[in-house]
Amino acid sequence: MLEGKEIVLGVTGGIAAYKAVELLRLLTKAGANVHVVMTKSAQEFVGPLTFQTLSMNPVHTDLFNLISEREIGHISLADRADLFIIAPATANLIGKLASGVADDLLTTTVMATKAPVLVAPAMNVNMYENPVYRKNEEKLKGLGYMFAEPVSGALACGWEGKGKMQDPAVIFEEALCALAKKDLAGEHVLVTAGPTQEELDPVRFVSNHSSGKMGYAIARAARRRGARVTLVSGPTCLDFPFGVETVPVISAMEMRDAVMAKVTDATLIIKAAAVADYRPAVRQELKIKKNDAPLSIELVKNPDILAELGKIKGERILVGFAAETETLLEHARKKLTEKNLDMVLANDVTQAGAGFNADTNIAKLLFRDGRVEDLPLMGKEVMADILLDRVVELKRQGLGPNWA
Ligand code: CTP
Repeated sequence: MLEGKEIVLGVTGGIAAYKAVELLRLLTKAGANVHVVMTKSAQEFVGPLTFQTLSMNPVHTDLFNLISEREIGHISLADRADLFIIAPATANLIGKLASGVADDLLTTTVMATKAPVLVAPAMNVNMYENPVYRKNEEKLKGLGYMFAEPVSGALACGWEGKGKMQDPAVIFEEALCALAKKDLAGEHVLVTAGPTQEELDPVRFVSNHSSGKMGYAIARAARRRGARVTLVSGPTCLDFPFGVETVPVISAMEMRDAVMAKVTDATLIIKAAAVADYRPAVRQELKIKKNDAPLSIELVKNPDILAELGKIKGERILVGFAAETETLLEHARKKLTEKNLDMVLANDVTQAGAGFNADTNIAKLLFRDGRVEDLPLMGKEVMADILLDRVVELKRQGLGPNWA
């Protein structure tokens, strides 16, 4: 996701410096080339060797060492960066940035960069609430600096409150957001994901193998690209995506109600959920006890949420999924027409590397005009972005309410 990106990670002196190691790992794993700059006090908390080993680049600590290079080091770092992240950022560092003080390598480099800067503050709750700090933060925000807000919790100083550095996974997500194109700005994207569970009794249910990974990847990608995102999710083991309004549901009937409650101002709907087509006719109040006779369970049909949306879609773009085990194109094409969709992502879930539970997918995209696009084996995060690219192309063709 970050292949070819140059990121400068500034680390300042706070106990959360150890969490910057985890952030570095996430950035390098996603393909970024990361250059770490540490302040003097950061080195009291974590040794530069840790960052050097994980980034596979020299760690920069000293302004004057860099100046002795042929090109002026801090300027070259500043120029090279696609993104600057400062995590953790102390009140002192933020104060310096807000006042234009450039007295060490980190502050000098930030001052010289034209790249976007993402700041992840970490400090004592009273410092965080101090009006001087608040003013500094507001000033930087006004100048376009992005902030990964700290969270509340037990602070290393013994106090309880806001000031704990944001989770590295969220800072990573905000970094992706900072680098993403904003071609879905102004859109409200409604995504469904995961399976539904249809209860038989208090301990059993009918469901399917959907993990929710594809739908969650789409929700995250749409948010990065500037959309307001609502995710209606069946039960999954995944963390709710940061910055996305998530409505958890269990059954198909609940999913239908949640979708219909959110559909009014949605401009783009992507139905990745694997909705159970049937539910038990009766949900037993008490656990069904076994005996020697065979057991039959009567199932009744659930509403087809996507088909209902197809009837009321108006100018919204409507994308459906087709999970098949045979005659993929034929079945997917039928869903495209019968459910009045603009696009279908179809996959053969029996293929290795595709469909339920995998981190990867193999799919075909079908369009109304008969076009079919093959999407070979790839990560679901990558596929989510391709799907949204195609939606943006549909938008350019004049589909959708706000779209020029
Ligand atoms: N879908 C839905 N409500 C249902 C069933 C399916 O909204 N009750 C949606 C899914 O979210 C997906 C699309 O319809 O976007 C296709 O789902 P799929 O399970 O592949 O097919 P079905 O329409 O259920 O048909 P079949 O099970 O016969 O393949």
